[in-house]
Amino acid sequence: MAPSTTSSETVGDRSVRRRDFLRLSLLGATGTGLASFGVATIGFLWPNLRGGFGAQITLPSPAAEVAASIRQERAPLAYPAGRLYVVTWDPASPGADDAYGDDHVVLPSGEGLMALYHKCPHLGCRVPWCQSSQWFECPCHGSKYNRWGEWMGGPAPRGLDRFPTRLDDAGQLVVDTATLLTGPSRTERVLQQEPEGPHCVDL
Ligand code: FES
Repeated sequence: MAPSTTSSETVGDRSVRRRDFLRLSLLGATGTGLASFGVATIGFLWPNLRGGFGAQITLPSPAAEVAASIRQERAPLAYPAGRLYVVTWDPASPGADDAYGDDHVVLPSGEGLMALYHKCPHLGCRVPWCQSSQWFECPCHGSKYNRWGEWMGGPAPRGLDRFPTRLDDAGQLVVDTATLLTGPSRTERVLQQEPEGPHCVDL
């Protein structure tokens, strides 16, 4: 009987080893999955400190060149990595300095620069620039904003949100995309700008 006992123990041992192996594999797979989920979640929640959205972003060109290019192209500077547009604004317009002077740059030339979040405050679509009307026009439900991002129509509850800007010692524009400034209310409209041509979005 001794040989048969040995054989039964061997089969039992193998079966236990297989169960242990399967259990360890399952634990390993679950651990790896949770670790990946944790990394992805932390990556989502943790601000990007290396120059993308959520960081202090220094634009590559000097601020005076950014302003000149916006004027020349008659279009804002789009900076997708920061999810923003840079627009010019005029501090000498009635009410403009009171509305925007605290948070947005004025260059030594007297011209202002302002950074607008490209996300529509209605339901979050990215709002493109419409070259013909010289407004921002949201293709999702038709909200429209003048070239300073002030609300002009549609279901959005306010104008485009903004980020504070400053100039660094080298004269580069720095945009703080970690700080969101709520856009102006529907009635806070400083820029008197009619559409300058056909709309891109007719909703
Ligand atoms: S998301 Fe822009 S109008 Fe609705």
